[in-house]
Amino acid sequence: MGLCPAASRFTRKAKYLLLLALCLCVLAWISTLSDGVLKEAELVPTPPPPPPANDGGRKDAVLEALKELDSTETEPEQTNTEEEEEQEEKEKEEKVIEEVQPPKASCPEKSPLLRGAVKLLFESSLTLAQVQEQNGEVIKGQYEPADCTARQSVAILIPHRNREKHLLYLLYHLHPFLQRQQLHYAIYVIHQAGEAKFNRAKLLNVGYLEALKDFNWDCFIFHDVDLVPENDQNLYRCEDQPKHLVVGRNSTGYRVQLQGMKIIRPPAKIGRYTMVFHKRDSGNEVNKDRMRLLGRATKMWKKDGLNSCTYQTLTVERPLLYINVTVDIGKPHSAL
Ligand SMILES: *[C@@H]1O[C@H](CO)[C@@H](O)[C@H](O)[C@H]1NC(C)=O
Ligand SMILES: *[C@@H]1O[C@H](CO)[C@@H](O)[C@H](O)[C@H]1NC(C)=O
Repeated sequence: MGLCPAASRFTRKAKYLLLLALCLCVLAWISTLSDGVLKEAELVPTPPPPPPANDGGRKDAVLEALKELDSTETEPEQTNTEEEEEQEEKEKEEKVIEEVQPPKASCPEKSPLLRGAVKLLFESSLTLAQVQEQNGEVIKGQYEPADCTARQSVAILIPHRNREKHLLYLLYHLHPFLQRQQLHYAIYVIHQAGEAKFNRAKLLNVGYLEALKDFNWDCFIFHDVDLVPENDQNLYRCEDQPKHLVVGRNSTGYRVQLQGMKIIRPPAKIGRYTMVFHKRDSGNEVNKDRMRLLGRATKMWKKDGLNSCTYQTLTVERPLLYINVTVDIGKPHSAL
């Protein structure tokens, strides 16, 4: 029995060792397992990017290589295209400047060019060529300020027949006068053809309709050919209400046009006109009502002669300083 206890002690030790070894094995296995899990967890988000990144990198590299090849092959051409590009850019800039320039600042409420009352001269030697020379910025009867946007676009309507000299003096004074007021304007001479009695009212109707074909004017000014304004503070523009520019004269006629409209008169000192020498010719009757101004208004004409205004435009000529609308207005109703 001497052997038995020794053997039993040995087997117990061996059992402990085995158990220890097993424990170590289990620990080792657990550790590898958890490592694997972690690695997997780490890999999950990253795997997708690498392959495309690699591919893309390769493509980029290829593209770059191609570009380099291109650039080395076409170096002289490239300098050309750069020049062209510069030119194009310059052109673009110029275009931008061109596009930016038109919205000029609005002209000031009160023009700095006004001179007030001036003494008018009527030189008998005055010629149309001289007046044209002095008004180089007027194109086909129209003008607008170069350095600012006019506050109003105004059509001046002048009924006319056989008064060439009057017209010359009026153009001579009126163009600089209107330019000092910084207006966008056009001067329409409405020329009555034929020998029928001069019908001022109808000519104005016609002028109004003809002028609207050119531009959507803010304001219409009916002007007599033989009256020249003396004071440029007498502003040829419309307020909300029509303004009667001639003072010291009684207003008759055109009652329908002005119906319900308050007439604003400039102060007497400013609203002065000089009448060009006057020798009445047959057909041109005395006009009590020298000049009138109408607001931005088609409505004013609604009930009046415009609808019944039958006329025939014979010619529209556009010399430098005015628009010459020649009309046949037919015979007056009284002739019927
Ligand atoms: C103005 O004309 C109207 C109509 O012809 C007349 O009734 C009025 O008395 C005149 N007024 C003046 C100040 O001449
Ligand atoms: C307007 O044109 C007509 C027709 O050509 C012409 O007879 C007339 O003299 C012209 N008037 C003016 C002021 O230019």
